[in-house]
Amino acid sequence: MAAPSLALQSLTLSHFRSHKRTVLETDGRPVAIYGANGAGKTNILEAISMLSPGRGLRGAKVDELVRSQEAVGWKVSGVLQSLSQVHEVETSFDGTGSRKVLIDEKTASQAALGRIGRVVWLVPVMDRLWVEGADGRRRFLDRMAMSFHPSHAEASLTYEKAMRERNRMLKDGVRDPSWYSAVEAQMAKAGAVIHKNRLEALEMLAAAQEQADTAFPAAECALVHAEGIEMPASDEDLAMAFADSRPRDLMAGRTLVGPHRADLEAVYSAKGVAARKCSTGEQKALLVSLILANGRALAAEFGAPPIYLLDEVAAHLDADRRAALYDEICALGAQAWMTGTGPELFEDLGDRAMRLDVTEHAGVSSVAVV
Ligand SMILES: Nc1ncnc2c1ncn2[C@@H]1O[C@H](COP(=O)(O)OP(=O)(O)O)[C@@H](O)[C@H]1O
Ligand SMILES: [Mg+2]
Repeated sequence: MAAPSLALQSLTLSHFRSHKRTVLETDGRPVAIYGANGAGKTNILEAISMLSPGRGLRGAKVDELVRSQEAVGWKVSGVLQSLSQVHEVETSFDGTGSRKVLIDEKTASQAALGRIGRVVWLVPVMDRLWVEGADGRRRFLDRMAMSFHPSHAEASLTYEKAMRERNRMLKDGVRDPSWYSAVEAQMAKAGAVIHKNRLEALEMLAAAQEQADTAFPAAECALVHAEGIEMPASDEDLAMAFADSRPRDLMAGRTLVGPHRADLEAVYSAKGVAARKCSTGEQKALLVSLILANGRALAAEFGAPPIYLLDEVAAHLDADRRAALYDEICALGAQAWMTGTGPELFEDLGDRAMRLDVTEHAGVSSVAVV
C-alpha cells in the first residue's frame, strides 16, 4: 500500500494529559491503539485533534489539557505529510493565553493548520448524536464542511464573535436599530458563508454516498432551521431575518434565528427511517457512512482523505461492519487512528495496520509499538 498523502509521520506529546512524553513514528498504515480503560488512548487522539482548528475532540479548554501533575503547559508536535509537502506542525499552551501554532517553525493561525491538514473524528459521545440536541449534529456537519472549506472555521469564528456582541446588546435591552445594523451585517455575511459551506458539504456527501460501493447505509441529509422556519440563506435574507427577529430576540435575550440554530436531519435511506429512530448500531453505521463519504469526496476534492480519529470505533459495530470499515479505510488510503480496549478488535486488520499498546503506571501513559 502506498503511504497516504495526508498523514502524520511522527507525533510527540509533551505534558499532555496523562502523557508526560510520548514519541511515535508511523509507517503510513492506519494505527490501531489498544489498552485498558484510562490507559491514555483517547488522549492520543485528542492530541492529534489539536493539530486542527478549534478545541479538539473533547471540546476541552486549553488549560484542561495540561498534565495536572506538573502543570507547566503542554505541547503536541508532529511531521505532517500534506500532499506533496512535508510540514513540521506544533501547537502548545504555555500556561497563559490561548494555544499557539507553529508551522515550519513560524507562528501561524489555527486556520492555517486546517489548510494543510484535515482531521475528522468519531467519538463515543457521538453515539447519541442523532437523538440528542442539535449542537452536536451542527458540530459534526461543520467539521465535515471545514474539511472541504478550511475557511469555514474563520466564518464560524466571525459569526460567533458578532453574535456574542449582538446578544450582549439584546441582554442590555438596546432598542435603537442603528446599533444593530453593523453587527447584523457582519453576522449575515459570515452566516451566508457558513450556510453555503454546509449545503455544499451535504451535496458532496450525497454524491459520494451515491457512487459508493460500501457496506454502510446511506444517510439522506437535510439542513433545517431549529424553529421549523425556512432557513434564511443569503446575506440579504439573513440580515432581514435578524432585523425582523429583534423584538423576539430582545425578549429572549439572545439571537433566535440564523445558522447557529440550524439542525442536520438524516434519514436511513434504504429504510426511510429517521436516524433518531434507528437502532444504536444503525445510528453508528450512518455516522460511519457519512465520514467515509467525507473521505471519498475529500480524496477527489483535496487530493487526500482526512486523517481519521476513530475512538472506540468497534463499539456498536458488528463483526461484519467492523471488517468492512477496516477494508474501506485501507481502500481509501486514509491514516486512521483507531482505539479499542483489546487487540482482538483489530484482528481483521492483519498486517494492514500498525499497533500501539498503551498502558498507564502511576498516572503516566506509556506507548509501545507492538
Ligand atoms: N489533565 C490531565 N492530567 C493528567 N492526567 C489526566 C488529565 N486528564 C486526564 N487524565 C488522565 O488520563 C486518563 C484517561 O485517558 P484516556 O485517554 O481518556 O483513556 P482511554 O485509554 O480509556 O481512552 C485518566 O487516567 C485520567 O485521569
Ligand atoms: Mg478512551
